[in-house]
Amino acid sequence: MDPRPAVFCDRDGTLIEDRGHLASPDDVRFYPGTMEALRRLAGEFAFFIVTHQPGVADGILSIEAVERVNAHVMSTLAAAGVAIVATYTCPHRRGQGCACIKPNPHFLRLASQQYGIDLARSFVVGDHPHDTELARQAGARGVYVCTGHGWKHLPELPQGEVVVPDIRAAAEWILSLGQLEEQVLGGRSEVVRAGEIVRRGGIVAFPTETVYGLGASAFDRSAVERVFRIKKRPPEDPLIVHLFEAQQARSLVQAFPAEAWKLARRFWPGPLTLVLPKGDAVPDVVTAGLPTVAIRVPNHAVALAFLREAGTPVAAPSANPFGQVSPTTAEHVREQLGREVDLILDGGPCWVGVESTIVSFCGPQPALLRPGGIPTEWIEELIGPLAYPSPYDRIPLAPGRLPRHYAPRTPLVVSSDLRRVPRGKRVGLLCLRRPPEADHFAAVEVLSQSGDLIEAAARLFAALRRLDRCGLDLIVAQPVPEEGLGRAIMDRLRKASRLVCTRPGFEDHPPEGAL
Ligand code: TXA
Ligand code: MG
Repeated sequence: MDPRPAVFCDRDGTLIEDRGHLASPDDVRFYPGTMEALRRLAGEFAFFIVTHQPGVADGILSIEAVERVNAHVMSTLAAAGVAIVATYTCPHRRGQGCACIKPNPHFLRLASQQYGIDLARSFVVGDHPHDTELARQAGARGVYVCTGHGWKHLPELPQGEVVVPDIRAAAEWILSLGQLEEQVLGGRSEVVRAGEIVRRGGIVAFPTETVYGLGASAFDRSAVERVFRIKKRPPEDPLIVHLFEAQQARSLVQAFPAEAWKLARRFWPGPLTLVLPKGDAVPDVVTAGLPTVAIRVPNHAVALAFLREAGTPVAAPSANPFGQVSPTTAEHVREQLGREVDLILDGGPCWVGVESTIVSFCGPQPALLRPGGIPTEWIEELIGPLAYPSPYDRIPLAPGRLPRHYAPRTPLVVSSDLRRVPRGKRVGLLCLRRPPEADHFAAVEVLSQSGDLIEAAARLFAALRRLDRCGLDLIVAQPVPEEGLGRAIMDRLRKASRLVCTRPGFEDHPPEGAL
């Protein structure tokens, strides 16, 4: 049999919650996306778990207890249709000199010999720098997840590591890389065509990890103007310029302050946009005449390959008509703008699901212009406190921050009071977890039954679209905790809610804040 590729998953903090030394199957909590993520990969990859349980060497856990927990994890996954070929445990302490402790590639080599695994086509997914280092030492590719203690170790990661929010995002990242390789090997690379189109002044919708973008060459004034026309976007709202690597920023910015560079090194490729002093080469139409430019390197294999092919920085807003819900699948783009773009690159569903976090380095202090896919907590951990200008603060250099519609057609209110649902109306509910009152609603979208904000963000826009198609009079969105990705979710819900509370029958349903 030909050698197969595999995905080697760390256990705690990657597949299941990291809740200290797990001694009993009763304490196992799977992350909400684990089953779905592994099922998505199951066609192509064999699965292994590689876990470090130093509690055994420290006398806190017995090896039997660890094995019971491992067996429970494997059987639960098997019941969900995911077969784990083997679970490898290192029960030693660092410094004991064992061969099996991460990042030694011992277990991966064993898997390669015993099960015919092709390590060069394999991945290691984990929430510790040892996991990605393990990948490197084994000649595999690493994907770092920010669940568990992942985000705390972010500053220790070497540059260029693939960083994604969770196991679900890791699966999508791996699949997007596979899609790309398939295309390239099949000699029918849409990505090459997309690059040509953009170089010749055309417009391509392309996937990123956040939402789909509508891209034109940033140096082609008339192509950028066409993007504004297609989107019906006011010309005073500038675009983000997308790069395939940070070095490309040289031709675009006048300065790259040290703090901004720190963020770029850590979070690029990723859902972070930096606003920096603009270089002369950037046409005014891109930046709406501002002396600043917004740039980012997206974390999506198809996007990066396309940007490399294009050979030019690509200015792109989200690929939706101005004011409407952002697209998180190629199908969404087809529905809304299908006839107006020259090509839609399909890279599967976006796994972050909310737009990038925007930080400006053009004022006295780094300032958050838009919460998004990188939680502000991670940014502040690296560079200290950000300024949080309110949407009503007059920041002359940030026009896009005025409250504006981001909205489904159906009116939406953000409210935690589900008792005051107007009678005789068809009302839909958008909630994090399903509350007992859900039965009173005509349609219900649950963003994450386990209350996971990463999963909720990834599902937000598609859920809004589905509710919008239900012929409802009103959507009630329950607030989510404003931490991690919750901040971005609440920002989008608030923007979506600006349309409401003026229609007859809803006057008794005051907007958020008044409740
Ligand atoms: O995740 C994302 O950021 C997605 C994907 C496609 O990369 N893009 C996106 O673009 O959300 P868009 O155009 O929907 O939002 C860009 C935001 C706007 O609010 C705009 O005002 C702001 O970025 N922006 C762009 N250039 C700016 C600048 N020079 N100064 C301040 N804000 C800027
Ligand atoms: Mg871990």
